[in-house]
Amino acid sequence: MYVCLCHGITDKAIKRAVREDGVGSTRELRTKLGVGSQCGRCIQMAQDIIDMTIIDE
Ligand code: FES
Repeated sequence: MYVCLCHGITDKAIKRAVREDGVGSTRELRTKLGVGSQCGRCIQMAQDIIDMTIIDE
């Protein structure tokens, strides 16, 4: 599922960034993948995915 349409970033890519690259915030995700750096509509969903991925570990 696409989370960030502006940059074509999927939930899988966000989960991978959390698990493999230690991303723990939307700010880090923006630096790493560009998520949220354009229209910003994806930020809340990206935050939820980060939180769920961290809880799952
Ligand atoms: Fe992510 Fe626009 S949908 S910045």
